[in-house]
Order: sequence, then structure tokens, then C-alpha cells
Amino acid sequence: MKAVRYHQYGGPEVLRYEEAPIPEVKSDEVLIKVSATAFNPADAMLRMGALKEVLPLALPFIPNVDVSGVIEKIGGSVTELRVGDRVFAFLDMLRNGGAAEYVVSKAADVALAPANIDLQAAAAIPSGAMTAWQGLFDHGHLQSGQRVLITAAAGGVGSMAVQLAKWKGAYVIGTASERSFSTLQELGIDEIIDYNHESVEEKLTEKVDVIFNLSPLSSDEVTKWLHVLKQGGTLVTALHPADEDLAKKLTVNTVRMAVQRNARQLAQIAELVDEGHVKPVITEKLPLLHLAAAHEKVGQTRGKVLVIVDDKI
Ligand SMILES: NC(=O)c1ccc[n+]([C@@H]2O[C@H](COP(=O)([O-])OP(=O)(O)OC[C@H]3O[C@@H](n4cnc5c(N)ncnc54)[C@H](OP(=O)(O)O)[C@@H]3O)[C@@H](O)[C@H]2O)c1
Repeated sequence: MKAVRYHQYGGPEVLRYEEAPIPEVKSDEVLIKVSATAFNPADAMLRMGALKEVLPLALPFIPNVDVSGVIEKIGGSVTELRVGDRVFAFLDMLRNGGAAEYVVSKAADVALAPANIDLQAAAAIPSGAMTAWQGLFDHGHLQSGQRVLITAAAGGVGSMAVQLAKWKGAYVIGTASERSFSTLQELGIDEIIDYNHESVEEKLTEKVDVIFNLSPLSSDEVTKWLHVLKQGGTLVTALHPADEDLAKKLTVNTVRMAVQRNARQLAQIAELVDEGHVKPVITEKLPLLHLAAAHEKVGQTRGKVLVIVDDKI
């Protein structure tokens, strides 16, 4: 099969479009014929070897944790999926990923794709939506009527978080730069703070119940936002942590999250997509051959960059 792989850690130049073996399927696994994959900052961090001490990869390695496609083969003990099912998944990041014509996954990580968007677009959803779901609801315990601040609201995770928070009935404030304002307004955001010209502490006129931090700002910057939380409120950060001692003094909570794969949540998200509450924000499409172009733009993209593997499925 055709795949993009790297044989050593390094910059985007280590990505090679080449032949690779079609993976074997174990009893509790499925083989997916890939329609599309999507780029995540974590794919670039793994490629650089930034996580190799804790998350060592078997090289050569096929990147990309998000995938959509059609089930081609199922293992002997798989009962919930069938050959021909249209599926999407957040793949195990330590195994070969979705930047290939075929990928194998544990069946337990795979869910049926939303029916009312095209299968390619579904690849832009899994890890971003699951991070957003877990950050807002599992860690932040966001409730209807509450106020939430989402930083980096226009990114792959943020654009999902804005929609999920609106679906929940929250009042949603996001930080973004001007290039993203219209996209966020289309998603129904209530207020935008321009991170290039305004500070959260000065711009917020009323405190918030939940902060979901997706911005690359330092711990010192993130810690300042503890002051804009209501008592008992929660700051969830997907990046740098806030000061826990200050959080205790202010009687607020702070959590540093790490997203977990969860196909049940993914199935719930597919329902929300089908009901029209959530849609992927795709700002660019590239063929698999040009995956490196997405890796080169890490940190500068908006929404999701979709990577098309097979434009016929
Ligand atoms: N801990 C976890 O489990 C976990 C899971 C998923 C992701 N993450 C991390 O969370 C971060 C967000 O992920 P992502 O996929 O959404 O990334 P992304 O798509 O690369 O985010 C890009 C967005 O970041 C925004 N941005 C850049 N600098 C900013 C700043 N100073 N303040 C506010 N926004 C800023 C940009 O906004 P504009 O377009 O408006 O300029 C852009 O839209 C990444 O660092 C990722 O590695 C962590």
C-alpha cells in the first residue's frame, strides 16, 4: 500500500511517501480502507521525537491519529462492526496511523461515522472533538447556563469545543485573532477576545465558571486566568498547567488533561453531527502525498487540515 512514513525522528523532511506492507488484523481488530486523515499538532510532536522517552515509536512509523474510512476486514472476535461499515476513529498514537491506504485499529476504538457529512470530512472530527468533550464535560463539568472561556477557540480542538459548549447551552467566550473571527461567529460564539490586542483579565467584565485552555501560552500567563474564575470554578488546560497553590487559595480548581480514546463518546459525537449541532471546520485539504505541507504549518493552521487518501470513498 502507499503510506507516508518516517524512518527517523526529525523535521517534516523525514516524511516519505512510499510503499509499506498492509497491516495484519488480530482477533479484536479491524482493517480500515482509509478515506481521509487529519493533521494534529501531536502528530508533529511525535515525529520530532519530543515524546520519545515516554512514548517511544517503532520506526519506520506511519503518523496521524485521526482517520475515516470503510471496514475492509474484521478479526474473529469482533461483533459490533461489519465489513463495509463507514467508520471513524481516534487511533492509538503509538501504533501506525492513518496516513496510509489501510490502517489497523482495535475495534473498541472505532465508531460508525456520521451519516450526514461526507466520509472524508469525518476524519477531521475524532481527536479534536474528544479532547473538547473530555475537557469541557468530564473535567470542566460544564453545565447549561454557565459561562465558559475557551482559549485558541479557532483551532482544531477549539472549534469543536465552541460548538459542544453552545450545544450544552453555555455562554461561550473565545480567544482568537482577527483571521478567525468570522468562522467563530458562524459557530455561534457569544464573545471573542482578540489575543493579539486584548488581555483576558481586562476584557472579561464578568467571571466565568469554566476555562478551557488550548493556547500555547506559558504557565505564568495561564495562572493569571485563575483570577477570572468564579469560586468553585475550574480551569482545564490541555497544555501548560496553572499554579495549583494559587488555585487552592482562590478556591478554584485546576486540571491538566490528557485526552483518552473513547469510542462511546465518539458515537455520541457522531449523533450530534447527524443532528446538526456540530460540524468539522476544515480550512484546507491536501492529498496524502503532500502531508509534509501540513506538518510544516504546525501551530499556524486554523480549524483542521484534512488529508485526502482516497477521494473515491
Ligand atoms: N492534552 C491533550 O490531551 C491535548 C489534546 C489535543 C490537543 N492538545 C494541544 O492543544 C493545543 C490545541 O490543539 P489544536 O489541535 O486545536 O491546535 P491547532 O489547531 O494547531 O490550534 C491552532 C489555533 O491556535 C490559535 N492560537 C495560536 N496562538 C494563540 C494564542 N496565543 N492565543 C490564543 N489562540 C492562539 C490560532 O488562533 P487564530 O487562528 O485565531 O489566530 C489557531 O487557530 C495544541 O497545542 C495541542 O497539542 C492537547
